[in-house]
Amino acid sequence: MSDLSLKPLVAAARGLKPSRQPVWFMRQAGRYLPEYRAVRSKVEFLELCRSPELAAEVTLQPLRRYDLDAAIIFSDILVPCTAMGQTLTFDKGEGPVLSQPVRSAADLAKLRRADAVKDLGYVGEAIAKTKMGLRSDQTMIGFAGAPFTVASYMIEGGGSKTFTEVKRLLFKEPAVFAGLLDLIGEVTCDYLAMQVKSGADALMLFDTWAGQLTGADYLRSVLPVTKRVIAYARGLGVPITYFPGQGVDRMFELSGLEVDVISVDWRTRLSSASKILRGAGLETCLQGNLDPQILIAPENTVRQRVREILAEARDLKLKGHIFNVGHGLLPHTPPESLSWVIDELRSFT
Ligand code: CP3
Repeated sequence: MSDLSLKPLVAAARGLKPSRQPVWFMRQAGRYLPEYRAVRSKVEFLELCRSPELAAEVTLQPLRRYDLDAAIIFSDILVPCTAMGQTLTFDKGEGPVLSQPVRSAADLAKLRRADAVKDLGYVGEAIAKTKMGLRSDQTMIGFAGAPFTVASYMIEGGGSKTFTEVKRLLFKEPAVFAGLLDLIGEVTCDYLAMQVKSGADALMLFDTWAGQLTGADYLRSVLPVTKRVIAYARGLGVPITYFPGQGVDRMFELSGLEVDVISVDWRTRLSSASKILRGAGLETCLQGNLDPQILIAPENTVRQRVREILAEARDLKLKGHIFNVGHGLLPHTPPESLSWVIDELRSFT
């Protein structure tokens, strides 16, 4: 592990002093980059995810432009749903659509326990290929959706504003809901293990929609399986980051979570997150949390917001701090604004 600790991101995640301030951006590979759009103009999104060569290429694109401390493998949290038997499509402007939404015991019974190596091995190949393009101090991040967030897409058949079908299943068919979360949990453990075996140095679990449940329902019906996945992932020997999404309240429920890093949504102050987590007995490294929309602001505003977050993190004497956005980069992000962020960060720290 001493080798891994040389990577600034891994050191910060483990509560060690990093050799420099680690920084990366959620969705750092994507449509805001012209070189990504050039690749995407020739292949569909899922084809891109399934081609190790092309996935590695777009994963590395942002690292050629910016002085980043990590690459996150180019894929999507919904890719494993295809290995469980659903069909995933991305309709223009509609977001993801999953066929055969899971609404009953019969629907659940039709799903397969995916074989991570056979069905999703292309993600591992992409990780191995990407790693060949990384410096030894750069961290290769693997990821998965957390069981609840993946389940919400599998139940709704796509995105949702009200999560009505998710709640219908949770309240009317709790055993089916629990069975689905258990299945996703098992597949996710295998999937993360495969990614680490292929070269991931750190893992991230995206629970973007966790804040859609009350604290009581989250504690009762979601936290136990999330904890199992996190405990399993930690056993793989790499640090793990949990993103609880929007809603500072969710932090209250995270006591006892054995996680290395909490990724903080841009709507939550780092100081609020740290206060609540410390109150719950959880002292972790924090990641975040620039508002991704600040990146459309003039240069001096962008630079000022970066300084504010760095100063806030420093004053909080956090166990560690990984600079990032507080949610994924948006397609209209001007690429040059990320250079200002990194330049400001490197001169501040
Ligand atoms: O961060 C990275 O650079 C790694 C790649 C990554 C993608 N999606 C690529 C992607 C990661 C980590 C994700 C996670 C993801 N996907 C989440 C959790 C994080 C979050 O943003 O809350 C969620 C909820 C999804 C589901 C998803 N995938 C949606 C809602 C959409 C459509 C919205 C959109 O931006 O078009 C996607 C598609 C998607 N995933 C794209 C990318 C680059 C756009 C595909 C394209 O090129 O058209």
